[in-house]
Amino acid sequence: MARLHQHRKGIVLAGGRGTRLGPLTRAVNKHLLPIHDRPMIHFPLACLMMAGLREIAVISTPEETPRMRRLLGDGRRWGLRITHLVQPQPDGIARALILAEDFLDGAAPTLALGDNVFLGRKLGPFLRTVMRGSGPCAIVAETDDPSACGVLALDGSGKPVGMVEKPATPPSNLAVTGFYRLDPDAPDLARSLVPSPRGEVEITDLLEIYLQEQRLGVVRLPRGISWFDAGTPEGLFSATCAVRELAAQGISFHGCPEEIAWRNGWIPAAALARLGRALAPSTYGRRLVTLADAALDHRSCDQPSAIPLPGTPPAPRRSPAAFRHAANVPPL
Ligand code: TTP
Repeated sequence: MARLHQHRKGIVLAGGRGTRLGPLTRAVNKHLLPIHDRPMIHFPLACLMMAGLREIAVISTPEETPRMRRLLGDGRRWGLRITHLVQPQPDGIARALILAEDFLDGAAPTLALGDNVFLGRKLGPFLRTVMRGSGPCAIVAETDDPSACGVLALDGSGKPVGMVEKPATPPSNLAVTGFYRLDPDAPDLARSLVPSPRGEVEITDLLEIYLQEQRLGVVRLPRGISWFDAGTPEGLFSATCAVRELAAQGISFHGCPEEIAWRNGWIPAAALARLGRALAPSTYGRRLVTLADAALDHRSCDQPSAIPLPGTPPAPRRSPAAFRHAANVPPL
């Protein structure tokens, strides 16, 4: 998996103003607010992990970056390499791509908005399918409230022809969600954009360039996967209810970097157990311990080991599939 995405890096965007969630966000950044029993930022991070990305930049505000660092660390315990970057002002989503240019170092970015929550049993396979394509790609979802979103415009034959940010008269009910597979040109293109009247360098303007150059792929969110903008009180509440409902059905990997790292074969079950025990009094921690115990009980005496991060000297290791088989890990 690491080899497949070696020229791709992830970015989670977790700055912004968070005005739609006031007064909740007066003292704390929305990405640290809970969605059921886990912080909001876990969800986009987990999506990038499900997509197979292990080198990830988390971009936040000057005030909140120390808290992000405390929460996520350098990612090593989840088999990741996390770089924390500061966005001095909330001057736009596309602007973050310029900020991340050194981190990207020529790699193609996959950008996940920090307040977007995707849920569904088949989310992992879906995201991996999206990542298998080449070139820039946006994921669109049907919505009842397109005026609150970036919206895709289609021509009579259903071909995408434009994007509009929060239109008064929406050209379709297809919202552009906050997970974008971009290409290495993205920072340069973002630099060429003029800020919108609200003072932000808009991601829709960047996507519009790709669209006009006929380079933008558009994928519809399949049935069975739901999408929430948790940046509104309604979205935050709906996402919380849905995550709780899934957890009650035993589906707990959403927003859970520990579980995804283990299912991806990036950390062994013993490490999952350790991470769970460190959080043990919480239901979140106890669930990790239960998962790890079940895997350790079934494991053969030939102990699987974790897969190293890209750039680490290679040692003779098993494939992720062999790891999962030996550790009795169900793939996502
Ligand atoms: P938005 O929800 O569009 O903006 P916001 O977070 O400022 O919230 P509000 O509209 O309620 O004031 O941003 C989408 C995501 O992108 C969100 O997770 C925050 C992030 N973001 C940044 O990190 N930097 C930015 O400059 C902007 C505009 C957004």
